[in-house]
Amino acid sequence: MNNNTRTTTIITGTSSGIGLDLARALLKKGGNVVINGRNSEKLSAVAAELDAEDRIASVAGNIGNSETGVALVRAAVRGFGRVDVLVNNAGTFAPKPFVDVTEEELDGYLHGNLRGTYLMTQAVVRQMKLQGDGGAIVNIGTVLINHAIGSFPASAPLVSKGGVHALTVSLAAELAADNIRVNMVAPGVVRTPLQGDDVDAYGGLALLNRVAESEEISEAVLYLIEAAFVTGHILPVDGGFITGRS
Ligand SMILES: NC(=O)c1ccc[n+]([C@@H]2O[C@H](COP(=O)([O-])OP(=O)(O)OC[C@H]3O[C@@H](n4cnc5c(N)ncnc54)[C@H](OP(=O)(O)O)[C@@H]3O)[C@@H](O)[C@H]2O)c1
Repeated sequence: MNNNTRTTTIITGTSSGIGLDLARALLKKGGNVVINGRNSEKLSAVAAELDAEDRIASVAGNIGNSETGVALVRAAVRGFGRVDVLVNNAGTFAPKPFVDVTEEELDGYLHGNLRGTYLMTQAVVRQMKLQGDGGAIVNIGTVLINHAIGSFPASAPLVSKGGVHALTVSLAAELAADNIRVNMVAPGVVRTPLQGDDVDAYGGLALLNRVAESEEISEAVLYLIEAAFVTGHILPVDGGFITGRS
């Protein structure tokens, strides 16, 4: 089969957690994926584990640096002829009281989470506009943007993610004329390496009284990739966390 006939998706932050699960799901559906993460050894191990050599391209690098986004697009075009979908998944997050956050930590979140998503998206949209037949972008946000927890202070990662929420709405409007749809999945707490081993302690935050599994976030991303009449939508996948208390 000619690789160029398959859907090609760039997923940032693919070496663990949600991004890795999504890469598995898209490969299972027969697509091509371009995977990414900062740590090249971790990324190579994941590429080998995914075991679909002719349908994977891999680019290590921090998305906060513009050359990483350009390289991911180049790898997609060289390997598979085009870019159909971008999933802006890469991100870091750790709670810390507001007054203790250092300038370096603040800059790190703004650089990786916000600037990285912005520049990655710019590189992909330039390519999608060249292709001229639309595309789909799905960003990964967080329900904490609209529902903060005083005992779980995370202002620095949240201001960076808040910018990605704003980018989602802004680009949905700007890019609609190009038939490029821009949506977001906003998870609650998900069982991934980012959350560590005590993740189940947060289960009680959700009406469903448990945390999410990565697959449940992937399902929502797959829906938004396919949903041809949905744009600018922020889809909470949070077990009822922002709905109310049981
Ligand atoms: N888990 C949750 O409860 C939860 C809840 C809400 C939102 N989210 C969001 O979901 C997304 C995925 O998180 P996860 O839970 O799956 O975490 P994870 O297991 O730690 O995976 C994060 C991935 O992103 C990569 N990454 C981080 N910063 C990067 C950067 N600047 N450039 C390139 N790659 C980068 C990491 O690899 P390297 O370290 O090698 O770069 C890794 O592959 C994040 O945006 C996170 O904020 C997670």
